[in-house]
Amino acid sequence: MKTVALLRSMLDELGGITDEPGRLTRTFLSPAMERAVKLAGCWMQDAGMDVRVDQAGNLIGRLEAIQVGRTGPVRRGGAGRSALPKTLILGSHLDTVRDAGKYDGALGVLLPVVALYELNSRGVKLPFHVEIVGFAEEEGVRFASAYLGSQGYTGRLKRQTLELRDADGVSVREAIERWNGLPSSRSKRVGVNTLHLKPAHRRDELLGYVEAHIEQGPVLEAEKLAVGVVSAIAGQSRYRLTWTGKAGHAGTTPMNLRRDAFAGAAEFALAAEKLAQATPGLVATVGSLAVRPGAANVIPSEAVHTLDVRQARDTARQKALFQLGRLAEKIARKRGLKVAWQRTQDNAAVNCSPQLTARLERSVNTVQGRSLRLVSGAGHDAVAMSALTPVAMLFVRCRGGLSHHPDEHVAPKDLGVALKVMVDFLERLAADAK
Ligand code: GLV
Ligand code: MN
Ligand code: MN
Repeated sequence: MKTVALLRSMLDELGGITDEPGRLTRTFLSPAMERAVKLAGCWMQDAGMDVRVDQAGNLIGRLEAIQVGRTGPVRRGGAGRSALPKTLILGSHLDTVRDAGKYDGALGVLLPVVALYELNSRGVKLPFHVEIVGFAEEEGVRFASAYLGSQGYTGRLKRQTLELRDADGVSVREAIERWNGLPSSRSKRVGVNTLHLKPAHRRDELLGYVEAHIEQGPVLEAEKLAVGVVSAIAGQSRYRLTWTGKAGHAGTTPMNLRRDAFAGAAEFALAAEKLAQATPGLVATVGSLAVRPGAANVIPSEAVHTLDVRQARDTARQKALFQLGRLAEKIARKRGLKVAWQRTQDNAAVNCSPQLTARLERSVNTVQGRSLRLVSGAGHDAVAMSALTPVAMLFVRCRGGLSHHPDEHVAPKDLGVALKVMVDFLERLAADAK
């Protein structure tokens, strides 16, 4: 399929757009994100889509339904409500982690774009609207809180999320307002509120949300399958922990008289690792750490780090969080430190829609001969989208199960299988809708 070569070249080109020379990093509303949105927007236009960017920075391409017996596209509000076609949303995220691979997120945005090229070239008309979204933020790099883009799209960005601050002290709300050219909330007159992150759709307008994504794990490879479907996505909690001790001279303060904030944080990180190792299915990660004042000869007075905790069962995750809280208290007491927890994210496990997943699985079976259902340990925009509409996910095998790493790789053959599945899925959905 010639379109696979096209998809690969698009992934390569998008993968070259970065905020950090020499490695792929695109964070929420950054200059590289703006360039990525522009480029992907052009590709969406080539697929015949109307393209816009919403207030949260999400790129949205929309292709209006063509209904048999009509000459042109069916637009919103053009007929009685019951006769109106619904919208199928496809997509994933355009932001990345630091030093990322080029498939995480980007694949789920570009695969449906190329699927539309394929359908257009064959003259296939879809009787439902298609919206492809390149979400502005899924990874949580800038604010240690994920799904800002998809929460913006669904109109569910909570006030406490809008108040989270990045490393420069800029809040989510301020970042969005500045990016939109709106007056910052700090200087805003009382009662004037120009930030409107309303849901992009009503629930009854939608057919569902389907996200293609690399598996980011080793199961498909072990099963010798190019693609599979997702049954559920594990819940996850993220926190920012601040340990406070006392700064002092590194040469003159005896070890037993120190209140070293970093040493407390380090002991906690190891205790979290030990707990997760001893608890089936639990994963706990300290992924980012800042030590202050940050000099070789000064005992750290403050250590701030993230904590990411996941488990397929919500009750097990909650129990682990309780245990981690007790561990942190014990370590702080022993070392004469204070520890404060700030919750930056909390998502329950999400079940994919049985109906939509069965349709996707039908296409996987058709193209691949058999399918496999997987639970996703990674988070996806589908989590936030599930608050608005039924969701389904297609997983694509990646080499060695490796992700969040520049060596992330998907074999061209597997891209071809994923593309055929997406095309088949859209065609069958169109046939079912007639
Ligand atoms: C997203 O990649 C996540 O699972 O953290
Ligand atoms: Mn992703
Ligand atoms: Mn990711």
